[in-house]
Amino acid sequence: MADQNLENKVAVVTGAGRGIGKSIALTFARTGADLAICARSEKELVTVKQSAEALGRRCFAMSVDLSDSEQTCAFCEGVLGKFGTVDLIVNNAGAYFERGLFADSDPDLWWKTLEINVRAPYLITRLLIGSMNKGGKIINLTSGKGFSAGANSTAYHVSKAALNMLSEGLANELWQRDIDVNSLLPGPTATATFDNNADGFRRTAEEILASGKDELPPGLPPWERVKHPDEIATVALQLATYPSGGPTGQVFSLARRPL
Ligand SMILES: NC(=O)c1ccc[n+]([C@@H]2O[C@H](COP(=O)([O-])OP(=O)(O)OC[C@H]3O[C@@H](n4cnc5c(N)ncnc54)[C@H](OP(=O)(O)O)[C@@H]3O)[C@@H](O)[C@H]2O)c1
Repeated sequence: MADQNLENKVAVVTGAGRGIGKSIALTFARTGADLAICARSEKELVTVKQSAEALGRRCFAMSVDLSDSEQTCAFCEGVLGKFGTVDLIVNNAGAYFERGLFADSDPDLWWKTLEINVRAPYLITRLLIGSMNKGGKIINLTSGKGFSAGANSTAYHVSKAALNMLSEGLANELWQRDIDVNSLLPGPTATATFDNNADGFRRTAEEILASGKDELPPGLPPWERVKHPDEIATVALQLATYPSGGPTGQVFSLARRPL
């Protein structure tokens, strides 16, 4: 097991206001990392920033809509203005607007899914990679739906398949700089995206799991399990703390089914 110490490291985590991103950000902060975080909800970001600062970490937080490339670029400028270099990039923020049939899909929302799930990771990585330290790690949050498509949600499937390929292609380019790039596939996890309630009705992972709403989405086998986001953060930390020569270009899956 690698030494799990992120002291003097700067970790960029998108979508860190809640869910898996928040768990990853605070797990990294507890392990010593300073944070650069973004999401749209300022209120959620402030809570995470305060928790990181209470641990003695520096935290740059910016309210950003990642479907907007100018805002995304401004976030990266802010990160470099605050820290100068980065060590870890976790492209976590994800959108899952389109859950119906392709024939019923809204072209604008379909494309916006790609903007948030693919263009934003591209832009953030593209803008920060020149300032990434040797030994850096990039972790892209992907999905089983990027491997086997169901009969709906095509935008999400396409976006996650593209993100897997981005991880793989980047890994093939960045090994020479001692930077590792991997995809992390959570499987069903108790978050707002999983809960899929109307905006404004958000429950914590504990509330979701305690409510018994842990029935699995259609198509998943009964031996799948809805996890707490902290379980995903444990694997993210392992990926973040591997010494040189660790895995790159891989998909780390917490699913309990063949992909
Ligand atoms: N939960 C699961 O079962 C599951 C399974 C497989 C993969 N994943 C992946 O895991 C990642 C994290 O998802 P989650 O389940 O933790 O979801 P979540 O709890 O809904 O959190 C998503 C985060 O992304 C941010 N975000 C969404 N749209 C954004 C935008 N346009 N600009 C900036 N930030 C945005 C959200 O903040 P704001 O809304 O405030 O912007 C929030 O902080 C996603 O990539 C998702 O696809 C999740």
